[in-house]
Amino acid sequence: MNQRVADFCQRYFTDRRGSNCKKWDLSQELFGAPDLLGMWIADMEFKVPEAVQKVLHERVDHGVFGYSYPCPEYYQAYIKWQQERAGVEIEPDWVRFSPGVVSSFYWLVQILTQSGQGVMIMTPVYPPFHGAVKDTGRKLVDYQLQLRNNRYEIDFDALEKQIVAEEVKLLIHCSPHNPTGRLWSLEELEQLLAICRRHQVYLISDEIHQDFVAAGNHFVSALDDRLSVYRDLVIVLNSPSKTFNLAGLLNSHVVIPDEKLGQAYDRGVAPYHQASHSLMGLLATQAAYESGSQWLEGLNATVDYNDDYLRRTLLA
Ligand SMILES: Cc1ncc(COP(=O)(O)O)c(C=O)c1O
Repeated sequence: MNQRVADFCQRYFTDRRGSNCKKWDLSQELFGAPDLLGMWIADMEFKVPEAVQKVLHERVDHGVFGYSYPCPEYYQAYIKWQQERAGVEIEPDWVRFSPGVVSSFYWLVQILTQSGQGVMIMTPVYPPFHGAVKDTGRKLVDYQLQLRNNRYEIDFDALEKQIVAEEVKLLIHCSPHNPTGRLWSLEELEQLLAICRRHQVYLISDEIHQDFVAAGNHFVSALDDRLSVYRDLVIVLNSPSKTFNLAGLLNSHVVIPDEKLGQAYDRGVAPYHQASHSLMGLLATQAAYESGSQWLEGLNATVDYNDDYLRRTLLA
């Protein structure tokens, strides 16, 4: 283990057992054994950056947890993070808030499609993608990614034929893709969006894993400037929750550049009467985006190390 990874683990690793932690403390209840390796849920054993803990401590000491809202500094921190990490220029009025990315795509399926209409997902994929289509009474259109030379790929001709045959209205895209680990290139996203344009298909891009990029690789967002002609079709979902281990603080973003689509979203969520923001979620997110870069470098070095370790041991 190199020094950087050793330092990161020593500083941030913590035992979460006995802290109402779904991954470890529900092992017996969910899987019938108390001592399994918790690899089924995507949160981590690492404490958040110090600046995040500090701002939360300060608020606990303040002692009041009333209704809250995102301040201008919040937007600045979020927008800067997206500029620097993803090269994307987000406007504040494109941004809506949600307690989580899964809630957002459940809502969006209901807003953008009618009961019984086709919604495509690319499998294998994170199970709630299936749930969001089935639980809302839409028709699940399962495009199966092609495994070629140990890498999952899209056969664009086959995908387009399926979109036409099944009258797909919405595609829920996972980018980077869970579980295949694929980062989609600009060319791949371009081809996908061109197909969406030809057949009037909306694209939800779940970019929750955007900050986990192995050394030497590069994430391209569906909001990349070079894809701007497609923005009227695109909604991006992102969040600090995976990146900074903040899932329990229930704060995520729904990014809608197109004004009409934004209005449709606002009308669509009105009947659910969304509650106020997560106070602690906002504070933690802002602090993480302002001060968490170095922590994230250490984390990604650790993930790279683990990836290499797995390949050397399990796959050798
Ligand atoms: C692709 C993907 N989207 C969404 C989520 C969960 O997001 P949230 O906790 O914000 O609902 C996960 C969690 O593993 C995920 O892998």
